[in-house]
Amino acid sequence: MRVPLIAGNWKMNKTENEAIALVRVLMQRLGPENDVEVLICPPFTSLSQLHKLLVSSSLLLGAQNISEKTSGAFTGEISGKMAAEFCTHVILGHSERRAYYGEMDQLINQKVKAAQDAGLIPILCIGETLEEKDSGLATSVLTSQLKTGLKEIFCDDPSRLIIAYEPVWAIGTGRTAAAAEISDLIARVIRPVLGGLWGEKAANQIRILYGGSVKPANAGSFFNQLEIDGALVGGASLFAEDFLGIIEKAS
Ligand code: PGA
Repeated sequence: MRVPLIAGNWKMNKTENEAIALVRVLMQRLGPENDVEVLICPPFTSLSQLHKLLVSSSLLLGAQNISEKTSGAFTGEISGKMAAEFCTHVILGHSERRAYYGEMDQLINQKVKAAQDAGLIPILCIGETLEEKDSGLATSVLTSQLKTGLKEIFCDDPSRLIIAYEPVWAIGTGRTAAAAEISDLIARVIRPVLGGLWGEKAANQIRILYGGSVKPANAGSFFNQLEIDGALVGGASLFAEDFLGIIEKAS
């Protein structure tokens, strides 16, 4: 049984006060017991305050990135240990990190290791660009992102590793991949690669999320697919009603 996860990636949005206001609404509206795990990933600057606010809440807190290094002279970076003071999860290898900050699979692999060493649950993002999709390269791109990103990573507990499949052409564009197509890709490519790394049993326990323009109106179509274990939500996670609407569809 894979427990569905709805994760909100706030990206570079919301000051601390704005973050607190949104989280207060989410806390009021989400019951104490949920059949869905709910995670929010605000900017680093709000983590400490939100951690205090969420102390007795089921709402989970994650970071959007960490350094591959453990400590030292790395100006502007945040280590896994620092994030783990407040967070349980960390998003790694998001397509915006890959496209705008030159993050490559080898570096992302080091970050996955750093996250595990710090006791964080990595959410490894993978996804093909439109050109790659149109050239029939989606399978090979996803396979290589997974194999390199997860090289020499241990998976003793499959509930502590999450994959987010986010086709780059579907992020923030309003365009989504067809739910059946995503499910097929997970079954045909993503789970078998995970199975090759850690065996079929572990692969069947790892949660695989879909991300890319998920909204309350289309969320149900994704969650109806057995292979899709939840969503990584960007834009819609910034608005309480939209995010709650998506969570409701997963319940
Ligand atoms: P979006 O972003 O929901 O705004 O498309 C998803 C993501 O980048 O994780």
